[in-house]
Amino acid sequence: MNVRTILAGNWKMHKTAAETAAFFDAFLPRVAPIPAEIEIVVAPAFTSLQLAGEFLSGTRVRLGAQTMHWELQGAFTGEVSAPMLRALGVSHVILGHSERRAYCDETDRTVNLKVRTALAQGLTPIVAVGETLDERRAGATDERVLSQTRAAFEGVPEADLSKVAIAYEPIWAIGTGQSCEPDEANRVMATIRHAIDGLGGTPILYGGSMTASNVASYVRCSDINGGLVGGASLDPEGFAALIERAVPVSS
Ligand code: 13P
Repeated sequence: MNVRTILAGNWKMHKTAAETAAFFDAFLPRVAPIPAEIEIVVAPAFTSLQLAGEFLSGTRVRLGAQTMHWELQGAFTGEVSAPMLRALGVSHVILGHSERRAYCDETDRTVNLKVRTALAQGLTPIVAVGETLDERRAGATDERVLSQTRAAFEGVPEADLSKVAIAYEPIWAIGTGQSCEPDEANRVMATIRHAIDGLGGTPILYGGSMTASNVASYVRCSDINGGLVGGASLDPEGFAALIERAVPVSS
């Protein structure tokens, strides 16, 4: 099955609004010639979403958020809802990132609630799964990603699974410069694809110290459909170079 390629930048807690503007001034001209079949997403902090939405309106770059609440409105101090994101032009939302699981009480249950709301509200969830170093050393990698994947999509109709993306992010590879070997990442990602029926056409992205130098070795693997990029998405030239190197030679 021909699965679309997504390159998504997760800025985490980086960049003020002014820094966001400077990024897009440099980035947008660089990525304008990239073939349209590559889906490019940038996920800034909430405080930059409105400005980013203005920059990206009418361009081929899509706007992402880094999390959201599962309720549509209500007494949830500090939270942001799917309709609020939609109103700013957001099309994608990262859910279940390991940093939110580790530091912000995100659980398999809340990820599942958020996935269902995102789909109902017309947002594309990018669901992050991945194992810790201890789990990898204990041989529990597959079990971990399978249970995270099954929990995230529990109760989601099979027909909706083509509207989601998954990011396999081994936690030990995030921000460490120690990326997972492409063949091993591909093996785990094939396992994820077979976790439940209906993921055959779902983009599965690799995340964890992806750079312009190593992206090509990932995207040529059979079950890797792009990347969720942290540190290397912060520099406009560097992120544009990374995306260019992910374009298949034939296109
Ligand atoms: P790095 O690319 O900085 O390793 O971060 C990966 C990540 O967590 C993206 O969500």
